[in-house]
Amino acid sequence: MHYCRINDIHAGRPLNQKIEIRGWVKTRRDSKDFSFLEINDGSCLANLQVIASSDLKDYADIVLKLHTGCSLLIQGILKESPAKGQEIELHVEQLEVYGWADPARYPLQKKRHSFEFLRSIAHLRPRTNSLGAIARIRSSLSFGVHKFFQEQGFIHVHTPIITTSDCEGAGEMFKVVAPPHTNKEEQNDFFGKPASLTVSGQLQAEVYALSLGKVYTFGPTFRAENSNTSRHLAEFWMVEPEIAFCDLAENMNLAESFLKYLIQYVLDHNEQDMELFANFIDKELHKKLETVLRSSFSHITYTEAISILEKTNKAFEFPVRWGIDLQAEHERYLCENIFANPVFVTDYPKEIKPFYMRLNDDDKTVAAMDLLLPGIGEIIGGSQREERYDFLVSRMKETNLNLDDYDWYLDLRRFGTVPHSGFGLGFERFLQFVTSMNNIRDVIPFPRTPGSALY
Ligand code: 4AD
Repeated sequence: MHYCRINDIHAGRPLNQKIEIRGWVKTRRDSKDFSFLEINDGSCLANLQVIASSDLKDYADIVLKLHTGCSLLIQGILKESPAKGQEIELHVEQLEVYGWADPARYPLQKKRHSFEFLRSIAHLRPRTNSLGAIARIRSSLSFGVHKFFQEQGFIHVHTPIITTSDCEGAGEMFKVVAPPHTNKEEQNDFFGKPASLTVSGQLQAEVYALSLGKVYTFGPTFRAENSNTSRHLAEFWMVEPEIAFCDLAENMNLAESFLKYLIQYVLDHNEQDMELFANFIDKELHKKLETVLRSSFSHITYTEAISILEKTNKAFEFPVRWGIDLQAEHERYLCENIFANPVFVTDYPKEIKPFYMRLNDDDKTVAAMDLLLPGIGEIIGGSQREERYDFLVSRMKETNLNLDDYDWYLDLRRFGTVPHSGFGLGFERFLQFVTSMNNIRDVIPFPRTPGSALY
C-alpha cells in the first residue's frame, strides 16, 4: 500500500485496493451508521468521499470531532460508490489526525467567502477551491511557458533581479540598499553604484539574444508605481522573449502564437479547474477563450487608434489627442467596442516609449507594439529594438540617460549589431484573462501593492 494523491485516485480508480491518503477535511456529514468526510489534498479540485463507519474504534472520540480544516491520514479500501454525486469512495480502516482545527476559530467555513476576505488570510486561502485552482493553473501555465519556448529552440536565461540599469526609464525602480552599517554612505554603496530591483529583464536578455539568437527570461519584476488598480502589482512576473534577426512583424506573430499556445495549454491540462471559473466566475469564459483561439488578431497603428477614438462619441475621462499615452479606458474601448478582438497597436510616438525602441522613418514614431485584450487591456508590450548605434545614442541623449552607464549596451551595437525584437507578457494579467478573475491580487499567491506586503 502506498500513499496516493487524490488526483491519481480519480484518474486511476484502484478499486478494491487498500490505499492511503493524506489531506484536509472539507466537510463532515453524519448519518445513522456512518460519517461522510469530504477530503481534499490540493492535488486537484475534486474531493474524495470517505466513509467512516460508526464501528471504528475511535469513532466517537475522533471522527465525530472532525471539522473543516483538520488534517488527516486515512487508510482504507477504495470502492465504487452506490450513491449519486461521486463514482468512488474510500472506506476507512484506519484514521489518524495530524492536526485539529478549532471550528470556533478556523476562518474557512463551508460557505463561500468573498475574495476580499480571502485576501486578508492569504496564508489559508489556497485551501479554498478557487485559490487552489488558481495555484494549479498558475503552475501549469509556468510549465507551458517553458515548453513553448524550449520546443522552439529558445534558451532560458536567468536575468538579474538586482540591477544597475533602468530599462523602462519611468522612474519606478525600488532602490536596493544594504543594512545600516557604521555610516550612511556605505549603506547606499554596497554595489559601488546605485542599485535597484529590476523592472524588466529585457536589456540583459538582449545581451544573450545577441550571442545565442533566441532567448527568454521569466521572472519577478518590480515597479514602484502608485497604481492601486485591479491590473497593477508592485511585484509581478514577466515572460520576456528576445530574438535576434527578427523584426516587429515576426515579433507580433510570435506573441500571437505564444498567447494561443498558452490558452490551448490551459484548456488541455486544467480542464477541471477551468470548469470552476466557467461555472462561478464567468459563464462566457470558454466562448471568450475559443474566440481568441480562432481569431486572427487585429493590427492598427497608434495614429489610426487615436483617430478612431477621436471620432467616437464616448466621453473618456482622459481626453484623446495624438501624443497621449493610451489609458486603460482607451485600450479597452478599442478591443472591446471597436474590434471585439485582441488588437496589436503599433508605432507609438517616440516621446511616450523607452529609449531602446527602433525609430521609424517618419522620425516621430517607434517600432513598438502593445497587445490589447478584451476585458484586460494591455497584456503584452514589446518592440523592435534600435540596433543602429548613432540612432540609439541620440535617443539616449534625448532621454537624458548617462551614456557611460550603458556603455555595455552600446557595445552590442558597436560590435556585430543585428536587427532584433522582443516583448514582455505580464503573467498575472494573462492569468486574469484565462480565469476571468477580476482582481490581479487573486492570481498571485502573495500580492504586493502600495500599502500592502504581507508575509
Ligand atoms: O509594457 P511593459 O512595461 O514592457 C516592458 O517592460 C518591456 N521591457 C518588455 C520587453 O519588451 N521585453 O510591461 C510588459 C507587460 C505589460 O504589458 C503588462 O502585461 C505587464 O507587463 N505589467 C504589469 N503587470 C502587473 N502589474 C504591473 N504594475 C505591470 N506593469 C506591466
